[in-house]
Amino acid sequence: MITAQQIRDVYEKASSEFAGSASYRHLLGGQADADEVRDFIRNVFLTHYLSSHIVALCFASLPSDAASLLKENLLEEMGRSEAEKPHSALLLELARGAGFSEQEIQGLIADARQQVAIFCAVRVPLPTLRELCLAVLLETVSFEFMLSRCSGPIAAALLGHYALPKRALQWFELHSEVDIRHAEEGLQVVLDYLNFHQITDSSFEHILDSSHDAARRPPRQDTSSRSRSISFEFPSVKRLAMPSKVARKATR
Ligand SMILES: [Fe+2]
Repeated sequence: MITAQQIRDVYEKASSEFAGSASYRHLLGGQADADEVRDFIRNVFLTHYLSSHIVALCFASLPSDAASLLKENLLEEMGRSEAEKPHSALLLELARGAGFSEQEIQGLIADARQQVAIFCAVRVPLPTLRELCLAVLLETVSFEFMLSRCSGPIAAALLGHYALPKRALQWFELHSEVDIRHAEEGLQVVLDYLNFHQITDSSFEHILDSSHDAARRPPRQDTSSRSRSISFEFPSVKRLAMPSKVARKATR
């Protein structure tokens, strides 16, 4: 039977690989140029602007004990008040702080929406919705794990090396705090999901491997729109780590 420690080990490994990647060190070391920083911010925006919709899918698929944890996570994503803004609003501040114009931001929003449309239109090699929602959940928790460890250092680098204003970095600062809790709760949610949906160990391992294989494939290039690197697979830790331009440099 899969244990919380086994899942934690997988996420720790993925987060460590991310933190050790050439592109991450390049960014944190202050060596990225202005275009690379914009590319990175753009990828963060695209993968997270509609995060509440993604968490909502996870919530919808788990009417069980751990649903209350997902509900709290979802309410945080959607924003409860002026003092606790939606996370999407914090990403708008991030984009403005990184120098994107209002017109460019409208383009980012359109691309983020398009990414969901593309994801929904892709054929998936999974037999039922319960496997698909599990893959989405695993990816979401993986992100939270990575953010709990890396978003603080990323915020510090964007402030110290690339002179982004502090008010623009709230999204990173918030995720370095709340995702420490979310990451631990995520393990509970995954275990509850496996139990509720009667997922076998072999099926779980197959889905985990498929997710990792998808994350290792390079993002497909979209040549028809203004977007330079819309990923067709579900956004992953590695995709956030590897904005196209930085990735090309890292593999030279
Ligand atoms: Fe968030």
